[in-house]
Formats: sequence, structure tokens, C-alpha cells
Amino acid sequence: MEQDGWAIWITGLPGSGKSTIAKEMKKLLRKKGIDVQILRLDEFRRTLAPKPRYTEEERDVVYNTLILMAKFLAKNGVNVIIDATAHRNKWRNKGKEEIKNFFEVYVECPLKECMEREANRKDDLVVSNLYKKALQRLERREKIDEKEISHKECGEKLSPLEQMVGIDVPYEKPSNPDVTIKSVEVDANSAATIIIKKMKDRKYI
Ligand SMILES: Nc1ncnc2c1ncn2[C@@H]1O[C@H](COP(=O)(O)OP(=O)(O)OP(=O)(O)O)[C@@H](O)[C@H]1O
Ligand SMILES: [Mg+2]
Repeated sequence: MEQDGWAIWITGLPGSGKSTIAKEMKKLLRKKGIDVQILRLDEFRRTLAPKPRYTEEERDVVYNTLILMAKFLAKNGVNVIIDATAHRNKWRNKGKEEIKNFFEVYVECPLKECMEREANRKDDLVVSNLYKKALQRLERREKIDEKEISHKECGEKLSPLEQMVGIDVPYEKPSNPDVTIKSVEVDANSAATIIIKKMKDRKYI
């Protein structure tokens, strides 16, 4: 194994279990004497976009910074876990292109289950019930459609700030992930164990 560290990108719908699995991985790796830095998108966003607008340009800046940070760390022997939804393939693909030892983990979870988890979790960095609010907005827009009046006339235009991944914006599934974790079938500890095993098979650890 060369001196470079590695970077794992844990991707999946909001509420699929990425942060929980990332923390579990860190715990299990620590027991093996392997240190890892978790790069959580929510933390980056707080600094890079204190008043987030969630536009495509802003998302590009936030993701590109995340990738650059992961690249620099891995290049200097620091292993990283990128904990970020990245609903578009282009960001994860960029990570793959830029980072030498790159590993993509897709946390697959049905939208309905993600919604329940997202509504019930306790997390200081994110607000809850984003899915619920997005569904309420969708319902309102559908009612407007039924009345056959344009959204513009009603002043009902969806801003990027209101676009929820999984509801208003599609989540682009990874086409060829290194590992897929079905998080309704395995708990976070087993998921972390599976990922670590795959990384061992690839000689990342
Ligand atoms: N098998 C599982 N793996 C991971 N998390 C699970 C699992 N089963 C239930 N959960 C729960 O799902 C909830 C949501 O998980 P988490 O916050 O890690 O999702 P996330 O993908 O990081 O979401 P976001 O993109 O919004 O940050 C947590 O309360 C977690 O305990
Ligand atoms: Mg999270």
C-alpha cells in the first residue's frame, strides 16, 4: 500500500443512514488502529454558505471544496470519509477522477423509509421534517395544477431553497458503486463491517 490515504464517499438519499454508518465506520476502524477524518457536507456548508440558497452554482462550490479537501488529505496520508448526499453523479464522478484511492458506497434505502427516519432522528446539524415540508409544498402545487392556473399567477414558484432531493430533485443513483448497502436490511454496525471487508479485499486497508 502506497503512502496515500483513501477517500470513501458515502452517498444516498437524505435519511438513508450515511452519517450513522460513517460514525460506525470510524469507530470500527479506530479499534483496528486506523484513523479517519469524516468530512460531513453539513459542516462544510455552514462555513461556505452560512445562508444557503441551494442553487446549482452553490452546490458546485460546496462539493468541489469538499472534493479538494478530501484530495489534499488523502494525498498526505489522511484517510477520509465523505458523508454527503451528492444527488448528482457529476460530483461523485469528480471525486473518483481527482482522488487516487477512491471508494464509493451507495446507501440504498426506500424513500418512504428515509422519510420516516428523517422525521424522527436527532441531529444538531440538520433540521428535521424536510421531506414532510416538501410533500406539503408538492400537494399545494398539485392543487394549483388541478385549477389549471399557472404557478406563476399564484406566485407559487419553487426556489432552489425549497427543492428537496428525492421529492423535487431526483437523486441520481451511482451507476457502479464499489459497495451497495441496503440499510433496511442491515444495521449500521453490519453496514460498516461490510464496507471495511470490501476495502480490505481491495487492499485499501
Ligand atoms: N441500518 C441503518 N443504517 C443507518 N442508519 C439507520 C439504520 N436504521 C435506522 N437508521 C436511522 O436512520 C436515521 C437517519 O440516519 P442519518 O442521519 O445517518 O441519515 P443521513 O443519510 O446522514 O441523512 P442526511 O443526508 O439528511 O444527513 C438515524 O436516526 C439512524 O439511527
Ligand atoms: Mg447525514
